[in-house]
Amino acid sequence: MRYLTFALGKGRLAEQTLDLLEQIGITCEEMKDKNSRKLIFVNEELKLRFFLSKGPDVPTYVEYGAADIGVAGRDTILEEGRKVHEVLDLGYGKCRMCICGPKSAGAYLKHHELIRVATKYPNIAKDYFYNVKHQTVEIIKLNGSIELAPIVGLSEVICDIVETGSTLRENGLSVLEEVCPLSARMIVNPVSMRMESGRIKDLIQRLRAVI
Ligand code: PRP
Repeated sequence: MRYLTFALGKGRLAEQTLDLLEQIGITCEEMKDKNSRKLIFVNEELKLRFFLSKGPDVPTYVEYGAADIGVAGRDTILEEGRKVHEVLDLGYGKCRMCICGPKSAGAYLKHHELIRVATKYPNIAKDYFYNVKHQTVEIIKLNGSIELAPIVGLSEVICDIVETGSTLRENGLSVLEEVCPLSARMIVNPVSMRMESGRIKDLIQRLRAVI
């Protein structure tokens, strides 16, 4: 039996995924050691391997088959647009991709004005404005603290993740439109899905039963 390899996005998502896997009897003790600098962890008995990567790299590892299975947020999966099968909504990491800004910016959206949109997710923003809203906009890519952009005058609105809404509230911004709901998803390499279909389908079924 060959190893099935999992790529997990570092941080809370990986922790929640390990908790979920534990519920179906899949454990990886080595991985719980927070001080370890090891990058790859093995469960010899179940012939499983796990590695942690930056979230946006998870779909890349899965598309190329360096990992058979990955867990990443739907935001990352949509943004990266990799050739992977999305097989399961894991139910955690729930939040929304939204267009946000000061309330006054609502009129720019309503009247389809040429505005600037700051975002960490240029592909998602482009798809929403061009294919869903049919509004021409200028997309400005940022790497974090997106809420700053409309406050300091870099853009009229942002396209960003809203979870509790407290970052928006504390900065005088609101949700103006919702792009899509988000949560953690399991993705699978298309070749692995065929070659290891028994093991992977069994895993999906067992996870479905506890979600
Ligand atoms: C995310 C997102 C928002 C915030 C939303 O940022 O970009 O800024 O969380 O959460 P809330 O609705 O619960 O306030 P993150 O903390 O990941 O950091 P970033 O700004 O560096 O992207």
